[in-house]
Amino acid sequence: MKKIALGVTSSISIYKACEILRGFQKKGVDIQVIMTPNAAKLISPRLFSALSGKKTAVDLFGDADSDRIAHISLAEEISLLVIAPATANIIAKLANGVADDFLSTFFLAVRCPVLVAPAMNEAMYRHPQTQANILRLQAAGVEFILPEKGYLACKEEGWGRLVAPEKIIEQGLALLEKGESLKAKTVLVTAGPTREPLDPVRFLSNRSSGKMGYALAGEALRRGARVILISGPTSLFPPLGAELLPVETAADMAREVKKNLSRADVLIMAAAVADFRPAERSKQKIKKKKAPSALNLVPTEDILASLDRPGGRSKKVIIGFAAETANVTANASRKLREKKLDLIVANDVSREGIGFDSDFNQVVIIDRKGAVAESPTASKRELSRLVMDRVEGLLGRKK
Ligand code: PMT
Repeated sequence: MKKIALGVTSSISIYKACEILRGFQKKGVDIQVIMTPNAAKLISPRLFSALSGKKTAVDLFGDADSDRIAHISLAEEISLLVIAPATANIIAKLANGVADDFLSTFFLAVRCPVLVAPAMNEAMYRHPQTQANILRLQAAGVEFILPEKGYLACKEEGWGRLVAPEKIIEQGLALLEKGESLKAKTVLVTAGPTREPLDPVRFLSNRSSGKMGYALAGEALRRGARVILISGPTSLFPPLGAELLPVETAADMAREVKKNLSRADVLIMAAAVADFRPAERSKQKIKKKKAPSALNLVPTEDILASLDRPGGRSKKVIIGFAAETANVTANASRKLREKKLDLIVANDVSREGIGFDSDFNQVVIIDRKGAVAESPTASKRELSRLVMDRVEGLLGRKK
């Protein structure tokens, strides 16, 4: 039986939380309710304890005699955290890492997917601060089911009404299912640029931020996979739960990929690996007056092309990316064949607003049969879902 935590906060729509609880129970889900202290002033926690059959958690230091740290041990037991209804206050706390009650502290401890259903007055919902908080949480991987327009507690018509309980249950169940779809699989993702040193202070590199690869790693984790993230230098926080292996040069990345590939069922090379490096690496900083007028470059190892594929193609799913500036589909198709990939995800890195260092991208996904699927321009998070859906399809076929 799957267990979820239902976070309940002090919106007037709090009474709908009982229906949400019941709806999940009918689908065979075990529920632990957590209320904020303000929510407990609107409805007694005893009601939720009676409905769920478990003592509702409200107070962070409630059980003084227990040797368990309640919010940590519960975080390890659950497969999903649903916060419905969610007030502007809890959303602001979650977005800023404030942990001053059971629910907000618990949020920082969970590793499972989180679904938030806001409910509040229209002005509060539309406030730029609330919108910024929602965007910040979405960027961190929190799922939202946004409020509807309707009759509000303030006796006005407007945006901010909690969506129907059935919709929250439906989306929660879908997340529960997705959270298992890559269970027992290991996904190796490469991300970011490589740096090819000229001397101790200078290097050749590219504009990759790592955002695409980190989004893929996050999506694989949300689907229950073990994730190994081999990353060139970036300023990003690795997704929680990923095994991070930081590297600097193309040679470092090649070594780590080869060392770890045997543990993986899937390899996704989203990294922008340098194709060439300076032939010489000076041990000392090159003096301005002695600077060479030209650089001698030598090719780096092509990691994807050099992987062992016993019997022609690997049993593993191997996916490459293609960074192109012209003839995107034709060039990417050639790379797919030459590097013996199952799938290639091509992007036009000459276009403004997508590709390198953007939160958005637009990709063309090409498979071995030559089928081409073009995506709309979307966040890297949404595109990582598309890619991971294809990974699941390919894994199914390689069984
Ligand atoms: O990091 P972001 O800012 O989010 O930007 C994302 C991205 C633009 C870097 C990403 O979407 C992308 O296109 N990654 C691949 C970049 C690249 O190196 O493309 P390529 O066409 O040069 O290489 C084709 C494939 O071979 C890639 O999977 C690459 O990882 C791999 N390769 C390249 C060189 C090399 N020596 N060894 C390799 O295995």
